[in-house]
Amino acid sequence: MQDLRDWIAVLEREGELVRVTAEVDPDLEVTEIVDRTVKAGGPALLFENPKGASHPLLINQFGTERRMCLAFGVESLDDVGRKVSDVLEMQPPSGLMDKVRGLQKLKSIADARAQTVRHGPVHEVVLQGDDIDLTLLPVQRCWPGDPAPFVTLPAVITRDPRSGVRNVGMYRMQVIDRRTTFMHWQIHKDGRADWLATDGRIPVAVALGLDPITAYSASAPLPKHIDEFMMAGFLRGAPVELVKGVTVDLEVPAHAEIVLEGYIEKDELGSEGPFGDHTGYYTAAEPFPIFHLTAMTMRNGAIYPSIVVGKPPQEDAWLGKATERIFLPAIRATVPEIVDYDLPVAGVFHNCCIVAIKKSFPGHAHKVMHAIWGLGMLSLTKCVVVVDAHVDVHDYEQVLFYAGANVDPARDVVIAEGPLDHLDHAPERQFIGGKLGIDATAKWPEEGARPWPEEIEMSPEIRDLVDRRWGEYGIESVPGAGNGGVGKTSRSLRQLLRR
Ligand SMILES: Cc1cc2nc3c(=O)[nH]c(=O)nc-3n(C[C@H](O)[C@H](O)[C@H](O)COP(=O)(O)O)c2cc1C
Repeated sequence: MQDLRDWIAVLEREGELVRVTAEVDPDLEVTEIVDRTVKAGGPALLFENPKGASHPLLINQFGTERRMCLAFGVESLDDVGRKVSDVLEMQPPSGLMDKVRGLQKLKSIADARAQTVRHGPVHEVVLQGDDIDLTLLPVQRCWPGDPAPFVTLPAVITRDPRSGVRNVGMYRMQVIDRRTTFMHWQIHKDGRADWLATDGRIPVAVALGLDPITAYSASAPLPKHIDEFMMAGFLRGAPVELVKGVTVDLEVPAHAEIVLEGYIEKDELGSEGPFGDHTGYYTAAEPFPIFHLTAMTMRNGAIYPSIVVGKPPQEDAWLGKATERIFLPAIRATVPEIVDYDLPVAGVFHNCCIVAIKKSFPGHAHKVMHAIWGLGMLSLTKCVVVVDAHVDVHDYEQVLFYAGANVDPARDVVIAEGPLDHLDHAPERQFIGGKLGIDATAKWPEEGARPWPEEIEMSPEIRDLVDRRWGEYGIESVPGAGNGGVGKTSRSLRQLLRR
């Protein structure tokens, strides 16, 4: 898929999109409709007639696992992770076929680099000077306590003024007036680092309305030196096409629906927020930099994309789950004993991380907790729960069982200190506070365990026997029971979200 329009066509073909023709107000009304739709596992919505605006509004494009898989063209999000691990785990080839496969992988990396083209539909309409007008767009005011409308699904493009390396990130933008917004660059983010590295002003471009993989890549927590558009190209299997900005020395996606160009001064800050955030709370007003628009470019009939964050689950749950799955191979490349991990949606991703490990020495769970607290954006995780390899980390009842059964809180709980998410309102001081580690693995004698009891399991012969004879018992009404018993993961939040 090259652009948002290809994606809308896919959604429509798959019965995943509803066009809303009624006039609907981007001021709060859209949020209430979307909140109900997301929580019911409903479709993407294209509001064709948003009140007071000249452009349609697309929302809930990522709101279910099925749509997220359609976006990536996969059966399961783990397939995307496998594509990444294929490259990360490349070994010297041992035969001709292996060499061919290796070359294909290398080619897919080489072809991932964004390509500059001379013209793009994003320049079909070019507004400059007094013609720039953000009120043309159906920018949502999401929650009653929000002081203004916020652009919520942007891909914000900057360059590191020292190295020239591009950064693309998703940061909300509170509208100040027709030609100015805030830029919500949180303290740990690469976009903010680019801004802080400048002496005067930094050019900024904001792409709105992209193919779904490129849009996702703006939210991906990549290391600073890796270009998000390159990752998008790799995951799409086709490079992202870029054109030169009209008023900024930056390249912008040629097929974006809308691009906002402008600059941010090093020393110009204003009071941004409050904002009804993905924490489920309003984040307090704080000083953030101000983005001045120098051009607004669009395709004819441009479609404006938006997302609502708030008390989970919301649409961003599936952007986060995509990240969880896609980054598993990279995490395992650094901490190979990790079998799997889960960032519960209700834990707002950074509040809780459940991780299963192949335990091979005393204290191993503690090593992994500290590894998580040292890994990229996972370092902001407040609570890490470590379980043994056989535990399904996505089945929260199973995890709770082992956290209860295997934990002596006097011995197995670690309280540490470290950086916390910018938005976390709980710690005494902003940005820094406590960390909780829970070692829920089976304990070894060296870890102070008395003889560890055996877990109760039925013998395989009896399970087979009952599977075979289930029909004879006359209790078919028990769902799933005749086929190995009710699935272990049947009640996980993950499955509830899959509705
Ligand atoms: C819907 C959505 C909204 C987001 N809003 C913000 C935001 O306002 N500020 C911020 O710093 N990060 C925000 N994030 C998270 C960043 O996009 C994410 O951390 C990304 O990796 C940042 O890129 P960077 O590390 O290149 O700066 C948001 C993520 C999503 C999915």
